[in-house]
Amino acid sequence: MSDKKFTPVKIALEKDKRYAWCTCGHSETNVFCDGSHKQYGKPGSLVFQVDEDKEARICTCKLTSNPPYCDGSHNN
Ligand code: FES
Repeated sequence: MSDKKFTPVKIALEKDKRYAWCTCGHSETNVFCDGSHKQYGKPGSLVFQVDEDKEARICTCKLTSNPPYCDGSHNN
């Protein structure tokens, strides 16, 4: 990762939809997996669902202890 400052992205998540959170930081969106980890030999995505429609702050710095959600670690 570069020195660029990463901040969370607020996203409207839909109940029972499957999301694949980018764990490597190389995805074009840096939020959801686009398959870029294969090119860099990095681990794949974290697949998750929510049990109700909701807005969530999704981590882009990859330092969170509660993936895929921001826990404020980007401020450290
Ligand atoms: S963006 Fe906040 S912990 Fe990663």
